[in-house]
Amino acid sequence: MYETINSPLNYGGLTLKNRIIFAPTTLGLPREELVERMKTIAAGGCAMIIIGDVPVLPQHFVPCLYTEKGRAFYRSLADAVHPYGCKLCAQLHQSDSNIKAMMKYVPGVLAGRISKEELRPLLNQQVGPYITGLSEKKVKEITDVFGTAAELALQAGFDMVQVHGDRMCGSFSSSVFNHRTDEYGGSPENRARFAVEAVSAIRRRLPDVSIDYKLAVRQENPHYGNAGVLEEELPIFVPLLEQAGVTSFHVTLANHGELSDTIPPKNHPEFGAEGCFLKFCDQVRQLTKLPVCGVGGLTDPDFVEEQLKNGRMDCAAMSRQLIADPAWPNKVCSGRAGEVHRCIRCNQKCLGGMMAHQGVHCIYERKETT
Ligand SMILES: Cc1cc2nc3c(=O)[nH]c(=O)nc-3n(C[C@H](O)[C@H](O)[C@H](O)COP(=O)(O)O)c2cc1C
Repeated sequence: MYETINSPLNYGGLTLKNRIIFAPTTLGLPREELVERMKTIAAGGCAMIIIGDVPVLPQHFVPCLYTEKGRAFYRSLADAVHPYGCKLCAQLHQSDSNIKAMMKYVPGVLAGRISKEELRPLLNQQVGPYITGLSEKKVKEITDVFGTAAELALQAGFDMVQVHGDRMCGSFSSSVFNHRTDEYGGSPENRARFAVEAVSAIRRRLPDVSIDYKLAVRQENPHYGNAGVLEEELPIFVPLLEQAGVTSFHVTLANHGELSDTIPPKNHPEFGAEGCFLKFCDQVRQLTKLPVCGVGGLTDPDFVEEQLKNGRMDCAAMSRQLIADPAWPNKVCSGRAGEVHRCIRCNQKCLGGMMAHQGVHCIYERKETT
């Protein structure tokens, strides 16, 4: 009955055993717990897991591709998921937060004068000046390091990479944040240059690697998302990214608005429906023959099968649904769709857990895996 969901896919050169992907999700869990969680999600039958926010530059506080210890951690993730026939993808990202500018808010946060809700818009205000003020030399260093990071990711056991098209790529793409007057600012072609150079750096070093691109789309009327690519700019960005070496697109709403817009609850005024961002896939579909991955509120097996079958997307990425029930793919593919614990998109313990620094959990908190 769910033969499309259960069929393999050539995802930009990498064979996926079925059409379900665990969307990039930073879980905020201790490392051992994270490995166990990934193992559980792989055992549940998805074809690939995208590890969210793998930094392209050396970092001290999160696992890093540049140290033996960091690579050993990523290797342990790969070893945990590969026995289930599940692929592992590294979401390569560069933050667009200006650490120096952030430091000035630390005393206010610690003293309770600035709440977390107040902090987010304050940090967003820093993005534009930071992106606009980065020296060309620094920009070239950062785009080049995407290639180094991709090489290290493959050495650490990842099967492919995704370039995070939000964060720094998204801010450079966006006329809201990018007010540069050099070759990285102004026209959409110039604003695409940062992302294009990042992708090219990977392609230069790894001629055969599959490169997914998280394409963050900004919507006007009504306005949602501040980073990323305007809908009408997609015909410029998509071919440029494809020429640079992208082999698939993971399409979603752009960030730097409210987190609950990109991770929308069921009662969201604009994006509350099942498959809420698929309309952006429809636009990208017109512009490329490469595989397109949908994401956002995908929970219903019948709906997912229908959207795959009618070609709106080639595969379905799920974050909250596979947190709620990692065994969604196995259940659906073995005639037990009725047993799926559907995510109700309440955001209580997933996004809520993340915001409260308690790790990402689910109100169901299920243990079953197969
Ligand atoms: C707790 C949490 C953490 C997330 N972390 C990331 C991340 O690190 N990188 C990213 O690109 N998206 C991240 N996302 C967004 C998801 O990949 C996905 O686009 C979004 O949740 C919508 O899909 P869903 O309806 O299947 O949850 C996160 C989502 C959640 C719920």
